[in-house]
Amino acid sequence: MATSIFISIYLTILTVSTLMSSSSSALEEQAGVLLTFKSSLDDQMGSLSTWSNTTLVHPCKWVGVTCNTSSVITSLSLQSFNLSGEISPSVCKLQALFHLNLANNFFNLPFPLQLSKCTLQSLNLSSNLIWGTIPDEVSLFGSLKMLDLSRNHVEGRIPDTLGSLKGLQVLNLGSNFFSGNVSSSNMFRNLGDLVVLDLSDNPFLLSEIPIEIGKLEKLEQILFQRSGFHGLIPESFKGLHGLEILDLSGNNLTGGIGLAFGLGLENLRFFDVSSNRLSGSFPTGVCNKRGLTQLSLHTNFFTGSIPESFKECLNLERFQVQNNGFLGNFPNGLWSLPRIRLIRAENNWFDGEIPNSISMATSLEHVQMDNNSLAGRVPTGLGLLSGMYRFSVSSNRLYGDLPPNFCDSPVMSILNLSHNSLSGKIPELTKCRKLVSLSLAGNNFVGEIPNSFAKLPVLTYLDLSNNNLTGSIPQDLQNLKLALFNVSFNRLSGKVPLSLITGLPASFLQGNPDLCGSGLPNSCSYEKSKRFSGRPAKLTWILIWVALASGVMLVAVGFFLMYRSSKKKLHSGSWTSVFFYPLRISERDLMAGMDEKSAVNGGGTFGKVYIVRLPSGEFVAVKKLMNSGSLSFKALKSEIKTLVKIRHRNIIKLLGFCYWEDSILLIYEFMQNWSLGDMIYKLDFQLEWSIRLQIAIGAAQGLAYLHKDYVPRLLHRNFKSRNILLDKNFEPKLTDFALDLITGEAVFQSMIGSESVSCCYVAPEQGCSKKATEEMDIYSFGVVLLELVTGRHAEKAEIDDSLDVVKWVRRKINTTNGAIQVLDPKISISFQERMLGALDIALRCTSVLPEKRPKMIDVVRLLQSLDSKK
Ligand SMILES: *[C@@H]1O[C@H](CO)[C@@H](O)[C@H](O)[C@H]1NC(C)=O
Ligand SMILES: *[C@@H]1O[C@H](CO)[C@@H](O)[C@H](O)[C@H]1NC(C)=O
Ligand SMILES: *[C@@H]1O[C@H](CO)[C@@H](O)[C@H](O)[C@H]1NC(C)=O
Ligand SMILES: *[C@@H]1O[C@H](CO)[C@@H](O)[C@H](O)[C@H]1NC(C)=O
Ligand SMILES: *[C@@H]1O[C@H](CO)[C@@H](O)[C@H](O)[C@H]1NC(C)=O
Ligand SMILES: *[C@@H]1O[C@H](CO)[C@@H](O)[C@H](O)[C@H]1NC(C)=O
Ligand SMILES: *[C@@H]1O[C@H](CO)[C@@H](O)[C@H](O)[C@H]1NC(C)=O
Ligand SMILES: *[C@@H]1O[C@H](CO)[C@@H](O)[C@H](O)[C@H]1NC(C)=O
Ligand SMILES: *[C@@H]1O[C@H](CO)[C@@H](O)[C@H](O)[C@H]1NC(C)=O
Ligand SMILES: *[C@@H]1O[C@H](CO)[C@@H](O)[C@H](O)[C@H]1NC(C)=O
Repeated sequence: MATSIFISIYLTILTVSTLMSSSSSALEEQAGVLLTFKSSLDDQMGSLSTWSNTTLVHPCKWVGVTCNTSSVITSLSLQSFNLSGEISPSVCKLQALFHLNLANNFFNLPFPLQLSKCTLQSLNLSSNLIWGTIPDEVSLFGSLKMLDLSRNHVEGRIPDTLGSLKGLQVLNLGSNFFSGNVSSSNMFRNLGDLVVLDLSDNPFLLSEIPIEIGKLEKLEQILFQRSGFHGLIPESFKGLHGLEILDLSGNNLTGGIGLAFGLGLENLRFFDVSSNRLSGSFPTGVCNKRGLTQLSLHTNFFTGSIPESFKECLNLERFQVQNNGFLGNFPNGLWSLPRIRLIRAENNWFDGEIPNSISMATSLEHVQMDNNSLAGRVPTGLGLLSGMYRFSVSSNRLYGDLPPNFCDSPVMSILNLSHNSLSGKIPELTKCRKLVSLSLAGNNFVGEIPNSFAKLPVLTYLDLSNNNLTGSIPQDLQNLKLALFNVSFNRLSGKVPLSLITGLPASFLQGNPDLCGSGLPNSCSYEKSKRFSGRPAKLTWILIWVALASGVMLVAVGFFLMYRSSKKKLHSGSWTSVFFYPLRISERDLMAGMDEKSAVNGGGTFGKVYIVRLPSGEFVAVKKLMNSGSLSFKALKSEIKTLVKIRHRNIIKLLGFCYWEDSILLIYEFMQNWSLGDMIYKLDFQLEWSIRLQIAIGAAQGLAYLHKDYVPRLLHRNFKSRNILLDKNFEPKLTDFALDLITGEAVFQSMIGSESVSCCYVAPEQGCSKKATEEMDIYSFGVVLLELVTGRHAEKAEIDDSLDVVKWVRRKINTTNGAIQVLDPKISISFQERMLGALDIALRCTSVLPEKRPKMIDVVRLLQSLDSKK
């Protein structure tokens, strides 16, 4: 008995220990495979530091590794680990490795065909730097169900052999450089399991849409936006019963969308064919099963009317049919859909009225119906919509009085009712505290300009021109930070508030013969007595016309304000954004676009700069600053508004900003040629003299404008060649100016101080005197001018010498013929005289004594005189 117990215990121990040893050797083997794999990778950030043989070997616990319950590795999720280097096929020794995710790393390799040795079911290489073509041998990945190659640099044809991956459910080739014609490709014939097909953002594809796609009955998403597809939308798409998302926008498609197009598409939620060349009538069937939430047909050649039955689309949130030839009654029912948030139908021929039942559309935020033939009154129901922030129905045939509550939405920010036949008095506006832009121009309004306008804190754009308004201009309007004020062609009278004549805003007062004020054709009676001659009046008058003309330019540039309400939240912190141009990008997309790949090396001074692509295809530059919290949001906004109003061709445009707890994003227009600094730092800096001089003049003009012409006067405080951006014609634009307004003085000082590299742009007196001055900017300008004249880096004029360019020039110049020796030898001797002139200006600007430096305005003049010496 005892023996048998002993034996059975012994046997148990024996089996357990054999099991353990076998599984631990299996673990060691897997660990070895991973370590070999790791050794081919370049893991700069040490993301894989847990992959190591020094600790107790248990690879299932290593970061990114997933095992099944018998400790066999099945999946590696190494996305966003900052990896680069080689992808070794050794990893295929893991015989149960089904999922490999290497997305969002820095692999700079051709397509990793070597991984076909693995038994992968999913391979995710999205957001890397994969280049070259997809080889025909991709068919070797027989077990793949998911292949994501999006956001790489893959080019060439999409090989037919992809069609042999019969089990493929997700194929994402978006945002690459594929080219060629897929219309007769055989590949789709076999991909019967495909659920998601993404070929978006491949602008070099030149193809019709393959008809066979319509036979892939399991498809749920077709993402073909912005990919050079032309021809007809295949009839066969009608059979895609499971399709939820169909995005064909931004191609070159023609033909119509059959009347009953949607009949088979019972599950469609998102339908976007905008920006093509489609024609014909409105696709009625798309609302089947009432599931549709987004419909976008905008910017095509559609005609005909929209059937009233469309109101059955109860889940519809976004409706965009603008820029077409639609006509007839705009369906009443659309105005009261329970979930509708956006209606855009501008530039069509719609008639009908806006019904009072608009009040039932409680989610409605944004309406644009300009340039149609709507008639009737502005409904009282409008004032009941508390989420409405943009309502624009200009150039229609609306008539009657405005209801007193028309601007009651607490978030209303853009209201455009111009060019209608509205009449009566303009109601007092008391509730819309976020109103930025109000246009009532070209109506028949009578009575006075309501006093309450002066209490709208962010009103920036006010156009009341071409009405029949009387009375005087309320004095309190001076308190507003208006950028445009147009009351021309009314019957206003009395004294114009002085600030509306002199500085910003650009005021338009003409066509009101009874207005008076200093500098206007009529000076008010008591002022007349002060004048002793007509001459000064004439001069002021001319000055005012100059101011007005520059105001027109300001508007022509497209000064357009768009104020986004601060409701949005992202991540944990709440953040707020203000866009001064219609950027059409959400904060979320902006953030998503700001990754390591979009960061510019050595971009600006403190804070990284990212180049972000907008959905419209344009680019913006985004500068990320630390938020020291020294300014409240309100204070910050007012400072930024100061910067936004700067309009000068040599100063970069600030388009908007986002603000949250730890950072501030400044959104600037994007410049093609990078910065002057970037060019100088290239070894073969080659710009010809005329361009260098053009850059110097432009930069000087920008700086002079900040110093002298702009109100309030600003200092740049961080002028250097890296902060002079160049457009495609080498027109310079200053950036990173007056950042102290945004960060606060203390943070600004510490950031500038920590930047040892650019210290050679800093005037010598800056160490002793805390107060920033114009002369310090002028010194920095002189340093840049020296860079242009000598073709040498500011901080290191000679490779083996640590002298900065100012000291280097001063030393050389004291020798015989020194001045000529410092000129950039790459420039022809025929420019020598002009270069010496520029050198002289640069030396005066970099004078040690601040009072010896010329003013920027004189610098501009001196440089221009060099230019005319041809
Ligand atoms: C751990 O790895 C190092 C280098 O990769 C190797 O030299 C060493 O033999 C390994 N140790 C064990 C216990 O495998
Ligand atoms: C783990 O994977 C291996 C290899 O595919 C397989 O033999 C084993 O049965 C799996 N274990 C479980 C619990 O699924
Ligand atoms: C990747 O690198 C960036 C900086 O280059 C860093 O901010 C980020 O945290 C890194 N990611 C990981 C996972 O190490
Ligand atoms: C690939 O990985 C990225 C990053 O993890 C992820 O966002 C993306 O959805 C993945 N692709 C697919 C098709 O699952
Ligand atoms: C693409 O191929 C189809 C079929 O071969 C052909 O009809 C079409 O003209 C081609 N399109 C282009 C742009 O080459
Ligand atoms: C669209 O097609 C027309 C005519 O075929 C062509 O002229 C035009 O360049 C195409 N546009 C784009 C964006 O491909
Ligand atoms: C108004 O809309 C029509 C129809 O789309 C268009 O042809 C016209 O150019 C638009 N007018 C303006 C000023 O945009
Ligand atoms: C208001 O509408 C008119 C006419 O469509 C347009 O010219 C003007 O730019 C619009 N104003 C604003 C601020 O959107
Ligand atoms: C001001 O209004 C007048 C009359 O409507 C118009 O002619 C002028 O273009 C407007 N100016 C601006 C800048 O909007
Ligand atoms: C402005 O009002 C006057 C007096 O009521 C009227 O005679 C005139 O026709 C109106 N002008 C316009 C353009 O409506």
